[in-house]
Amino acid sequence: MCGIVGYVGKRPALSIVLDGLRRLEYRGYDSAGVAVIDRDEVLTEKRAGKLANLEKALADRVDDGIAVGSTAIGHTRWATHGGPTDRNAHPHASGDGRIAVIHNGIIENFSRLRAEIEATGVEFTSDTDTECAAHLLAAEMRALRESGSPEGPQTLAEGMRRAVSRLEGAFTLLAVDVQTPDAVVAARRNSPLVVGRGAGENFLASDVSAFIEHTREAIELGQDQVVLITPGGIEITDFAGAPAAGKEFHIDWDASAAEKGGYDYFMLKEIAEQPQAIADTLLGRLSERGDIVLDEVRLTDQDLRDVDKVFIVACGTAYHAGMVAKYAIEHWTRIPCEVELASEFRYRDPVLDRSTLVVAVSQSGETMDTLMALRHAKQQKARVLAICNTNGSTIPRESDAVLYTHGGPEIAVASTKAFLTQLVACYLIGLHLAQVRGVMYADEVAAVVSRLRRTPDALRELLGKMEDVRALARDLKSSSTVLFIGRHVGYPVALEGALKLKELAYMHAEGFAAGELKHGPIALIDKGTPVVCVVPSPAGRGVMRDKVVSNIQEVRARGARTIVIAEQGDDGVVAYADHLIEVPRTPTLLAPLMTTVPLQILACEIAAARGHDVDQPRNLAKSVTVE
Ligand code: F6R
Repeated sequence: MCGIVGYVGKRPALSIVLDGLRRLEYRGYDSAGVAVIDRDEVLTEKRAGKLANLEKALADRVDDGIAVGSTAIGHTRWATHGGPTDRNAHPHASGDGRIAVIHNGIIENFSRLRAEIEATGVEFTSDTDTECAAHLLAAEMRALRESGSPEGPQTLAEGMRRAVSRLEGAFTLLAVDVQTPDAVVAARRNSPLVVGRGAGENFLASDVSAFIEHTREAIELGQDQVVLITPGGIEITDFAGAPAAGKEFHIDWDASAAEKGGYDYFMLKEIAEQPQAIADTLLGRLSERGDIVLDEVRLTDQDLRDVDKVFIVACGTAYHAGMVAKYAIEHWTRIPCEVELASEFRYRDPVLDRSTLVVAVSQSGETMDTLMALRHAKQQKARVLAICNTNGSTIPRESDAVLYTHGGPEIAVASTKAFLTQLVACYLIGLHLAQVRGVMYADEVAAVVSRLRRTPDALRELLGKMEDVRALARDLKSSSTVLFIGRHVGYPVALEGALKLKELAYMHAEGFAAGELKHGPIALIDKGTPVVCVVPSPAGRGVMRDKVVSNIQEVRARGARTIVIAEQGDDGVVAYADHLIEVPRTPTLLAPLMTTVPLQILACEIAAARGHDVDQPRNLAKSVTVE
């Protein structure tokens, strides 16, 4: 989820590209870099860390042409392959220095490509997947020249089409070639790219905020398209070279809204990004046949067969993801699985040994409580597998193995897409363990995988129907308390719904296991108390669903106002719902991928209606690095 910018025109490109990167820095800030074409040279500068480090380095380069060239590309990185270092910062150059490439996404077949390219004598200068694309493009350009193609933008576009035909995965690639100084070429597959149409100049970027100051006319590229921009033209083709068209639109947001993709808050933007974030977590990890492929996790099949107990350690929202994972892992693998608050883990002296797998779940990878829990587990000789969203952070670095969630940077303090992608990563680990240990048949794994594959579309459908939840939020904004109940995986969803409401709306909110209400908390219910009820699917575990329906009747009998989240078509709940929120049908264990989302929106909208800072709630920090 990096930020990329390209410019070609008559003005000095560097300052335009740097301005664009400043607006895209929310997409990642592990490193930043630029490549500018000045006469017969590609001039690059790149630095690890925030954009400010790059700007400082550029300030010393007053005597070369980097500040005057009028074609440039720029990148702000959110690391996936290779740590956040100067060497891995983009742009990456071809061996002859003639081509510079920047990239957003993941090239899945990069290790095969790298071996193939190295076999031709090319030396790599980074650990990134992106560098493969630079070498491939250079090789294609050489081949085209040798076969008599004229130097020029069309040949550069053809070179790009040929290079991307070798790539698997998700990518937006931008490239410049010193032999074609007035052009930037780009390709897009499963990663965002928009073109800005100017007068005598054109722009490329991950999102429109990068060029909104210069033009409001934009084109969104379609899947598998290549675009060539020159000062006077924009040419789009498909990967085979046939002319194609993007989706033209006029931008009517102001610049600050554009950074948030037109949403009022980063949180709403991140909620909307969840279908793509789930697809990105799954990317490259499911085979055609429906197996789980986790080659990147540095644990052998034998290591996994030796596991006799799983502990999940995490905090806050990540802990709730772990609670859901417990149900899935135990059901699929038949290995006992415990979930622990990371801050409590080491103080109760848990029984751990070499055959214990400790799964440390953390979006930031820096949470001190989780880090301390993992260090304790390692001291006790347990193996530690991190589930993390932040490449190169401390928790994955200190773990024996890591599965990155690839959810993209989460800016809003309240976790949303990190939660759903943590769930998906936990499901993948559970299924992988079951597969390796032979507990599930291949067709059983494939059946779950096929449902997982469908969740991004189902979630898009759900997100399109959230108007009612917004109206409900306005209605609930003055409530003094909101209670949440659920059973099985619906219980952690209830806890997560309550946590979101507490942290954003500063309201009293509590989540309960639905069956526990009668053991005390039901005394809280008064006339009109809102109770959000997460109802399990009637399919498969109908008994559980019926029990929750009974619990709903119990609270209604005591005057509660019920907000029922239930599967589409579960008509039996309608009579007990003062307000019904329907979610697409999903197998029970995967249901939190749907049922959590209305609760995120509810909390966000109530907070906004109460006038709070949704993205930065009081007293909180995104990354909690103290115990
Ligand atoms: C709540 C929230 C926190 C985090 C918790 C762990 O919305 O974001 O509860 O989930 O602080 O953070 P990570 O996942 O970075 O370890």
